[in-house]
Amino acid sequence: MLLALFEAGSSLIDNAVEKVGDNLTSMVLVTTAFILSMGYLSKAVFKQFQPHDKELKYPPYIPSSIPFLGHAIAFGKSPIEFLENAYEKYGPVFSFTMVGKTFTYLLGSDAATLIFNSKNEELNAEDVYSRLTTPVFGKGVAYDVPNPIFLEQKKMLKTGLNISQFKQHIPMIEEETKDYLKRWGDSGEKNLFEALSELIILTASRCLHGKEIRDMLDEKVAQLYADLDGGFSHAAWLLPGWLPLPSFRRRDRAHLEIKNIFYKVIQKRRQTEEKEDDILQTLIDATYKDGRPLNDDEIAGMLIGLLLAGQHTSSTTSAWLGFFLAKDKPLQDSCYAEQKAVCGEELSPLKYDQIKDLTLLDRCLKETLRLRPPIMTMMRMARTPQKVAGYTIPPGHQVCVSPTVNHRLQDTWLQRLDFNPDRYLHENPAAGEKFAYIPFGAGRHRCIGENFAYVQIKTIWSTMLRLYEFDLVKGYFPTVNYTTMIHTPNNPIIRYKRRVH
Ligand code: HEM
Ligand SMILES: *[C@@H]1O[C@H](CO)[C@@H](O)[C@H](O)[C@H]1NC(C)=O
Ligand SMILES: *[C@@H]1O[C@H](CO)[C@@H](O)[C@H](O)[C@H]1NC(C)=O
Repeated sequence: MLLALFEAGSSLIDNAVEKVGDNLTSMVLVTTAFILSMGYLSKAVFKQFQPHDKELKYPPYIPSSIPFLGHAIAFGKSPIEFLENAYEKYGPVFSFTMVGKTFTYLLGSDAATLIFNSKNEELNAEDVYSRLTTPVFGKGVAYDVPNPIFLEQKKMLKTGLNISQFKQHIPMIEEETKDYLKRWGDSGEKNLFEALSELIILTASRCLHGKEIRDMLDEKVAQLYADLDGGFSHAAWLLPGWLPLPSFRRRDRAHLEIKNIFYKVIQKRRQTEEKEDDILQTLIDATYKDGRPLNDDEIAGMLIGLLLAGQHTSSTTSAWLGFFLAKDKPLQDSCYAEQKAVCGEELSPLKYDQIKDLTLLDRCLKETLRLRPPIMTMMRMARTPQKVAGYTIPPGHQVCVSPTVNHRLQDTWLQRLDFNPDRYLHENPAAGEKFAYIPFGAGRHRCIGENFAYVQIKTIWSTMLRLYEFDLVKGYFPTVNYTTMIHTPNNPIIRYKRRVH
């Protein structure tokens, strides 16, 4: 199938270390990585921070009897359970070691404030993300540039992701979805996650890259995206970049080939008189504060970033949304009734104002992002000592906040594990806490794709709900696949049946 190449596969940051033991070679590689990272860590810890001050109290440290791997196996098997147990035992701030790195989690809204309000020079994103993202997105963008520059790039993207654009996106997304679903027939069972991964990339490419690039999205280009995406791997995170691994080479080749495709489109655009009204045009016309325009390399890098930032996040979210609706048939019926109430019995082509007025579907998506936020952990490198909750976090720790844990803390959420989209209609304790609900992060690193993701997912699901009725297969609601940092559904098969109007 055209895009079956895009499996759930890769992840931004990987925790599963089971694979480490696969064979001797990888063991040697990992040991190298270990020595390198220990060298780095000890430099970071001992050079910059020597606690002469006996008053300083480090966060409680969860001991482990396994050298090097530390808690990687327990965490890899069930990260949320691990963090919740630690919260019970140690409170909102604690540290532990995995694969030679020390992680300090800040759980709950109050502790999380440290990350969201900090300066990037103190709790740094590039130090933890760049080794994964720079080979994929390229130089000159995102975590390869000083944060003030990235912030300017985010602002350019944000201007392009506006309501007048969304109004154009909705008919494109509806059309792509209808076309895609033609192959589904009247009824059957399908891997929902696989289908939505393909739909998300088709619709994202069309809306965010423009028509020319979308029209080139065939099997070959899909394979290039898959190879690039393969750059977000265990290996890329743990091992030095100069190692001649096949996956690294595939990633680098795909990077060059995709950029060459994008360059041609960008150059053609620059040469034509007539201006398109889309994001690519916005980037071509954009300038930094000092007046310098983006060059082709930066634009191409930003296009890659736009696509990949939304790929796993939106596809996982929309798959979980589908399963929550299949599990609760009365809720699914209410969502279908809402389609008819808001868009008329005829269910004519979707419009922006209607998508906005689908408030029940909106709350279902919001609740899906509460229980299954695709980014389960955000990370920063402590470059300077950080004070929080009476403790001092030393430089060299990877400081983390987990949306998943904050979204289900006992003290914050009523009936915390129930899928209840109506909870947002009532008074709820979470509303009073600034960082109790953070699927898109907060502060300087906050997501710029939230509004687009809502438009994209709501339009896809509106189209799907109008065409089909969905059921679980033999009552099976997917368990969570914790293999990667993006928590996908296990065996995500769904049953569908065409609606008769
Ligand atoms: C359901 C969909 C999405 C979710 C849940 C999501 C979540 C997040 C989160 C949690 C962050 C903060 C990361 C951190 O602080 O370390 C983030 C940042 C970001 N996201 Fe998204 N995202 C989604 C879709 C998108 C889309 C569609 C785009 C692009 C169109 C996008 C572009 C970005 C960018 C550029 C950043 C900024 C990173 C930074 O400043 O360090 N995201 N997203
Ligand atoms: C879980 O995710 C991994 C990595 O994406 C994948 O290889 C595996 O097949 C998934 N397991 C199931 C049961 O879906
Ligand atoms: C919206 O985005 C388009 C293209 O991305 C741009 O041309 C237009 O100026 C933007 N509108 C506003 C109000 O920012």
